[in-house]
Amino acid sequence: MDQDGTRELLARIDDYVADLFAPQDEALEAARRDSEEAGLPAISVSAGEGRLLQLLAGISGARRALEIGTLGGYSAIHLARGLTPGGTLLSLELEERHAEVARRNLERAGLSEQVEVRVGDARASLAALADAGAEPFDLVFIDADKEGYPDYLEASLVLSRPGTLLLADNTIRDGRVLDPSDTSTAAIREFNQRLAADPRVEAVVLPLLREKVDGIAIARVVG
Ligand code: SAH
Ligand code: DHB
Ligand code: MG
Repeated sequence: MDQDGTRELLARIDDYVADLFAPQDEALEAARRDSEEAGLPAISVSAGEGRLLQLLAGISGARRALEIGTLGGYSAIHLARGLTPGGTLLSLELEERHAEVARRNLERAGLSEQVEVRVGDARASLAALADAGAEPFDLVFIDADKEGYPDYLEASLVLSRPGTLLLADNTIRDGRVLDPSDTSTAAIREFNQRLAADPRVEAVVLPLLREKVDGIAIARVVG
């Protein structure tokens, strides 16, 4: 099959799975619609990946979750819905404008009590959490600027305990990570290599099929 044909098939497979397993309720539809109307980039996780995040949050029994990169709050809604009852999510976002849209979307989803959106450069917010001796998180989802991934991995490990689930979006980038000369994915390549080699975690990258192939890193902190 030619490349366009392959992409179309991947999109149809992604839609098939999403239609079956990730029906969008009013809160999720509104979050997507309002993010788009506010002019935010259309780079939220897919419906199927959102479903996966919700499941992973539930399977891990997470009570305290951290997200790096909020955008309009679409992935935050899924993570928060997967938490153990009474659980909380702290989501870090650079842009005040994105945070405002996200807070509205979370409010509409009935999640304002469970989710805090904190504005600032995630590097600074993460350092402040570590300095303050924050209780370790049970789950961390990395999805902000791709150049920051190696730093976010280190910072996440500082804020983890054995058993913490570390997740990171966009770790395949349409296969561009395969090309050692591709500068746009150098930091992601570095992230994947470190994650694979770091004795503090056991990890894998799961390719995700969409029109473009991407991937999610799934890691468990072992010590
Ligand atoms: N997790 C979201 C998508 C996040 S898109 C979802 O799936 O719904 C990436 C977000 O990271 C953008 O909103 C961008 O503003 C934010 N971002 C980029 N650089 C950042 C930084 N240094 N610190 C915190 N957030 C950052
Ligand atoms: C893109 C996709 C993402 O999921 C993200 O977090 C950032 C950028 C993109 O396709 O450009
Ligand atoms: Mg992403």
